[in-house]
Amino acid sequence: MKCVDDFRLRFGKRELLPIVIGGMGVDISTAELALEAARLGGIGHISDAMIKTVSDRRFDTKFVSAKQKRYKANVANVDKSTVQFDLGDVAEATRLHVSRTMEAKRGGGDEGLIFINCMEKLTMNAPKETLRVRLASALDAGIDGITLAAGLHLGSFALMEDHPRFRDAKLGIIVSSLRALQLFLRKSARTGRLPDYVVVEGPLAGGHLGFGVDDWMKYDLRIITAEVVAYLQQEKLDIPVIPAGGIFTGTDAVSYLETGAAAVQVATRFTVADECGLPAKVQQEYFKASEADIEVNSISPTGYPMRMLKNSPAIGAGIRPNCEAYGYLLDSNGHCAYIDAYYREVALHPGAKKVEVWDKTCLCTHMRNFDCWTCGHYTYRLKDTTRRMEDGSYQPLSAEHIFRDYQYSKDNKIALPK
Ligand SMILES: Cc1cc2nc3c(=O)[nH]c(=O)nc-3n(C[C@H](O)[C@H](O)[C@H](O)COP(=O)(O)O)c2cc1C
Repeated sequence: MKCVDDFRLRFGKRELLPIVIGGMGVDISTAELALEAARLGGIGHISDAMIKTVSDRRFDTKFVSAKQKRYKANVANVDKSTVQFDLGDVAEATRLHVSRTMEAKRGGGDEGLIFINCMEKLTMNAPKETLRVRLASALDAGIDGITLAAGLHLGSFALMEDHPRFRDAKLGIIVSSLRALQLFLRKSARTGRLPDYVVVEGPLAGGHLGFGVDDWMKYDLRIITAEVVAYLQQEKLDIPVIPAGGIFTGTDAVSYLETGAAAVQVATRFTVADECGLPAKVQQEYFKASEADIEVNSISPTGYPMRMLKNSPAIGAGIRPNCEAYGYLLDSNGHCAYIDAYYREVALHPGAKKVEVWDKTCLCTHMRNFDCWTCGHYTYRLKDTTRRMEDGSYQPLSAEHIFRDYQYSKDNKIALPK
């Protein structure tokens, strides 16, 4: 019987362990977590979601308060079209986050790679301009690769094509169907560059899903992965395929690696790692969750369904939109679905000190505060991956322990911590 360690991911001449820790915004997949994956010979992701907030927290910059101050007069205004990101600040925040991570990697962890997860749905009131700056700054700062996520990214390669690192950095795309991949390849063909890897994300993943809120359960990662592998073979395109979503044990991973996958992308198991950005109290909520405590809902203003714990404080919270400070989901007209939902409730409850908003959530604020507990389908199995302590709480795990368990475990076994 094989284990993950019997396989290697080949990127040109480079050989890596075929374990990728997926991007988890906002700073849930921290630099520390990504660095561990790289040190152990795999691939780790940081994320550029809400990059200015992440920079303030990690590097003591003051980007958020400066923006809030600049747009203070607009706070009570429903129209957010004037609330713009300073592109220089976005570049600087990205540069700080990426360059510090890559410097730390050079200090010990050069066996593997560090990529950045870049979500198209963070439209930031000027989708094309802000995305161009995010991508270019990450490349400038020396990131090993960029994973294009949450969106079709039909124009993203073109946004990077003049960058000197366009052909040397690893560039990949996350898709949830063969059709999305075909569309991406067709639209990117003009740049004369193929993706270096394709992540196929199925319906059991955490974060936003590329399926309908009512029909995600009809899809199967194995089937979609097989379709993508078969298509690439037929087209004679040698692009590594990396399935993601619900791969919970080393044995699960091996079953994909034996049937055409080049690596696996995993995340949920690492949400309870010491190096993960989730606060310890929130990690206990993940450990405690039962299957019935998890739902796929449509409260994300992005329009994509999202999986989360039902007791997430973000659900139902009717806070005033915080776009002057954040505003990462504003479209090119300064519009976000949460703004509509919030002001609808305010109009329905005149004079009320507080309103409840159930159909949408202020995702920026709640992700920033770790109050939107997005998670993978198998979060309810996390309790089986550790020990319960005398006080009833669950023992958090080191990223190395989880990584090694994926690497060496056989027969669906999960190694418990010492
Ligand atoms: C807490 C959490 C946050 C996530 N955030 C993102 C994100 O910001 N961008 C993204 O592309 N995927 C995100 N994902 C998806 C993961 O990167 C990964 O592809 C997927 O969850 C793998 O499935 P698994 O969690 O069942 O192992 C997130 C997943 C989790 C669990």
